Amino acid sequence: MSGPTTDRENDWNPQQYDEAFDFVARHGTAVVDLLDPQPTERILDLGCGTGELTRTIDERAAAAIGVDASRSMVRTARSNAPACSFAHADAHHLPFSMKFDAVFSNAALHWMDDIERVCRAVWTALERGGRFVGELGGAGNVHGICGATQAELASRGYAMELPWTFPTIEEFATLVSTAGFELTGAWLFDRPTVLEGGDNGVARWLDMFGDELLGAVPPTERPSVVDGVETRLRSEQYSDGTWTANYRRLRFVAVRQTAERIT
Ligand SMILES: C[S@@+](CC[C@H](N)C(=O)[O-])C[C@H]1O[C@@H](n2cnc3c(N)ncnc32)[C@H](O)[C@@H]1O
Repeated sequence: MSGPTTDRENDWNPQQYDEAFDFVARHGTAVVDLLDPQPTERILDLGCGTGELTRTIDERAAAAIGVDASRSMVRTARSNAPACSFAHADAHHLPFSMKFDAVFSNAALHWMDDIERVCRAVWTALERGGRFVGELGGAGNVHGICGATQAELASRGYAMELPWTFPTIEEFATLVSTAGFELTGAWLFDRPTVLEGGDNGVARWLDMFGDELLGAVPPTERPSVVDGVETRLRSEQYSDGTWTANYRRLRFVAVRQTAERIT
């Protein structure tokens, strides 16, 4: 799956996402608690996906608006959360003329091509003193699956570059401060995650998230690549019929500085 833009309609599958990957939004409720939406606040959910967390935020805020670059995700979000508004747009070029009290983002920033540019767009969308609260994959995220896929592809003569940016706290601090924020809190932590689907957990994960990882592989060869990845991972990440992926998350709170940005 590619980091989507409005120019390049991506192939996120909202139904598969909600059925087998609902853990993403489930874990995100802790990030909503960190955001702590207030009843007077207008909040933007960046990379809102199927709108589950937009709805949770909306229940606690004056209004929550979701934005996502995938038309299919936005369509599903509109039916999942009819009380909220949703926009189909690229986070690098936010289309809003109004300002938000806070911007929230769960599990989406690492899909975006240029996180610093997105942070600049968020800065522009926020009121002075507004907060940017979220979580993304942090340094080392899903390194088991990524490493095994890289090794399997290399053994077959394919090159692979990670399609995601998983920053360290230091790298993320530089990105947000360059964009005009003060990083007031950041936590990098392991979150081992059981993959749904039993024996097929890794295959389903690669099917949902791995289009770009496996982009060089012809469709007919993919099943044997997936078998190879499983073989490489099995001793470390498979037990009693279950795959566990070594997720690592970077959770953060950043505040838009009151001074104008000097860039
Ligand atoms: C893993 S999903 C997370 C969805 C949701 N935040 C959640 O917690 O369930 C990542 C989402 O980021 C969106 N996304 C990726 N790149 C984007 C971009 N440049 N602008 C806006 N949304 C983007 C995708 O379309 C997808 O819906």
